[in-house]
Amino acid sequence: MASQLATTFTGLALENPFLLSSAPPTESDSNIMRAFDAGWGGVVTKTIGLHPVVNVDGPKTKFLRASIDSPRLSMQKRGSAVLHSSWNWELISDKTLDWWVPRIARIKQAYPRKILVASIMAGSGSDQELANWQTLAKACQAEGADAVELNLSCPHMDRKDMGSNIGKDQELISVVTQVVKEVARVPVWAKLTPSTTDIVVEARGAFLGGADAIVSSNTFPSLPPVDPDTLEFEMNVDGFVSSGGLGGPAILPLSLAKMAQLTQAFPDKSFSGIGGIADFSHALNYFLLGCGTVQVCTAAMLDHAIGPNVMKSLVTGMVQTMERHGWRTLDDFRGMLRDRIVPHSRIRRPDAKDYHGGYDAEGYAAAEAAAER
Ligand SMILES: Cc1cc2nc3c(=O)[nH]c(=O)nc-3n(C[C@H](O)[C@H](O)[C@H](O)COP(=O)(O)O)c2cc1C
Repeated sequence: MASQLATTFTGLALENPFLLSSAPPTESDSNIMRAFDAGWGGVVTKTIGLHPVVNVDGPKTKFLRASIDSPRLSMQKRGSAVLHSSWNWELISDKTLDWWVPRIARIKQAYPRKILVASIMAGSGSDQELANWQTLAKACQAEGADAVELNLSCPHMDRKDMGSNIGKDQELISVVTQVVKEVARVPVWAKLTPSTTDIVVEARGAFLGGADAIVSSNTFPSLPPVDPDTLEFEMNVDGFVSSGGLGGPAILPLSLAKMAQLTQAFPDKSFSGIGGIADFSHALNYFLLGCGTVQVCTAAMLDHAIGPNVMKSLVTGMVQTMERHGWRTLDDFRGMLRDRIVPHSRIRRPDAKDYHGGYDAEGYAAAEAAAER
């Protein structure tokens, strides 16, 4: 029986479950069309906003590498070094909505069967700011965008009512999602920040607002390392640095932990997994936890800007894995390992003694009593 890569996610038919995430690979119509030619099932545009965007004076992204012969992590290029992560402090698209609108239309006309998701972002501090979300959503869907992804997760915002600062406030998440849902004729995905204590709380806010799917993770807040010789941050402007976002291989296990929390809390909802994916063995983790699609950024940036080889290896890996296990569609294995993540005390001990997670030592309540409190 031939394995099928085609899948449906939030009601959208995709020829495969692989998307380019909102980032430099999707910053222009030419990139997006090249990505579709390379076989990606969908793309999420670089985030589109209404406020003016000016990036820092210098590189916006660099890659941290570890070398085989030294424990040092560095952004300096060295032979025999392997990728550890990407670090960026790039803002959202510096192109205006007017620039994007005709391009969204042209992309959809040329690739009607591919899924084009418009990533959008506005503030949330006033009715006018909330109306901006509606303006963005309406403009993109009118040109044929198949879904909108709410950027509630950009980690480099000064404004307290934007990006990951919205994503840290469950009520604001609900309000923004609801405002967009009021005008949306297409599915609304909410991209949450991983930078909170319990992402389930923020996801609940998004679902209460009507979100059709949760997307996780955006990059993790981080700083570039200091060069021990110059005593400067390896990325800086005039010696100064600001918090940026970590992506790539280093965040795969971190992002999986966030996703496991999400899919366990909401087993019947839709999730798109991002973080550290470069081949199918990585993507498989997200599917086994319950994701219906996955998205890729860092690996694609390093592969001809839009990831043609990454795409090929995702497809080949998925077909081979499905054939090996006798799976016909993604639904045959989606969520298979979701319930294998359990409290520590449920992991078997070698001497068959019970362990109650530290509860029943002298002075502590029994596990059941503590759970009831
Ligand atoms: C240079 C750069 C720019 C990014 N810009 C955006 C953006 O505009 N909107 C967004 O939602 N995420 C943005 N991201 C986050 C990515 O979409 C993705 O969530 C993150 O990089 C983790 O995926 P990865 O491990 O495959 O890189 C950006 C990431 C990078 C590296």
